Amino acid sequence: MTALILFGATGDLARRMLLPSLAALDADGLLPEGLRIVGTARSRLDDEGFRAAAAEAVAANPVSARAARPGFLARLRYVPLDATDRPGFRRLAEAVAAGEPVHIFLSTAPALFPPTIAGLVEAGLAGPNVRLALEKPLGSDLASARAINDAVAAAFPEERIFRIDHYLGKETVQNLLALRFANTLFEPLWRSEAVAHVEITVAETIGLEDRGDTYDATGALRDMVQNHMLQLLALVAMEPPSRLSAEAIRAEKVKVLASLRPIGPAEVEAHTVRGQYVAGAIAGQPVPGYAEELGRASDTETFVALKVLIDNWRWKNVPFYLRTGKRLARRKSEIILAFRPVPHSIFGAGTSAMAANRLEIGLQPEETIRLALMAKVPGLDRAGMKLREVTLDLGDRTAFAEQRRRIAYERLLLDLIEDRPTLFVRRDEVEAQWAFIDGIRAGWHETGRAVRPYTAGSWGPAEAFALVGRDGVTWHD
Ligand code: BG6
Repeated sequence: MTALILFGATGDLARRMLLPSLAALDADGLLPEGLRIVGTARSRLDDEGFRAAAAEAVAANPVSARAARPGFLARLRYVPLDATDRPGFRRLAEAVAAGEPVHIFLSTAPALFPPTIAGLVEAGLAGPNVRLALEKPLGSDLASARAINDAVAAAFPEERIFRIDHYLGKETVQNLLALRFANTLFEPLWRSEAVAHVEITVAETIGLEDRGDTYDATGALRDMVQNHMLQLLALVAMEPPSRLSAEAIRAEKVKVLASLRPIGPAEVEAHTVRGQYVAGAIAGQPVPGYAEELGRASDTETFVALKVLIDNWRWKNVPFYLRTGKRLARRKSEIILAFRPVPHSIFGAGTSAMAANRLEIGLQPEETIRLALMAKVPGLDRAGMKLREVTLDLGDRTAFAEQRRRIAYERLLLDLIEDRPTLFVRRDEVEAQWAFIDGIRAGWHETGRAVRPYTAGSWGPAEAFALVGRDGVTWHD
């Protein structure tokens, strides 16, 4: 028998992602037989009330797209609990059998982590049979992240801590490992000799939604760059790991994170852009500005663009341009490797416009891998050979058309239950990420770097174009 305990079971993440993911795994017969799912939160529900809420959440999710099976609902239990209420933890401990494997998923405000861990320890729920998964945000700077990590480490050894970054559960993120390390074609070119620059974009069309003050106290740098974007950067830039093991991959990622050239007060002007959306339109629909959604003026950034350099042999002087924002023109996440142009063109000027090769890795909304190459336009070419860019589709989606695309949390929850830590973030990674982000924030603070307005539905403030334009680059849109 096995138990999964979900803290924050009535919260937004559980409703939108965790319960639908678990229901989908259950429907495919992937959950261990006898696995019980114990939800816990402050709401005073009983088992039946939680089952009804879960059934509603599963039915509303377009990805799980089917009703929860009665067998799934029968796995669910509920124990109401306040993080400061010690008897509640005892009731929780009674819901699991002594010594059985227990997986605990904390999807609560990080301020509740320390009292929750103390409660777990006191109730005997921190033994060698227990694994702990932590949802973001893991702190708001290096010092608070260390405090959380210390509090968790006092009760759980690192190998039983699973820090979630849901981007690591996305299909194409893992396909990146296959592309890089299962093909001979790219690896020799995956370095400064052949790559001119790298772009990583995570663009969203949603705005503040109902996150209000929580988002406003965070901002795009800490909400998206500190975690998801730095993880993507690390996967693109890391050296080949010795094996496909958690420790080998995480060791390579952390080396990249430790090699990021710090951005401080002297660099923020040339290397960073902060933006905030004002009213505009997305897909023809008018949308309000950030300050209107929030209900007051604010200096929080909803857009960030960065020019990042990695000080190691492979990436010397290759800029990694990162950009993320809310209320942008289109939802898209992509990684672009822009290769260097040919050293000399034998094709006469005027007969062709030479473009350098480009590898485009699309994460969402579609998973794509495309290679842009130059090819000859068919014809007799009396006035000189004409060339044009063509794209080779490497991610042939029709080849895998029958495979259902999984919600990132399906993979992560299953990995947690099966004790596979590769797609979870190690303590040293999180802390290296925060050290880099803290430098930028200190630079913004010291230089009083203000947010630049951008119209909702655009690709961000003009300064984001200037950031790359100074290097002769235009974003790939
Ligand atoms: C979350 C951020 O971590 O990721 C949100 O807090 C953001 O602000 C979300 O919207 C994006 O995730 P996805 O999977 O929709 O790209």
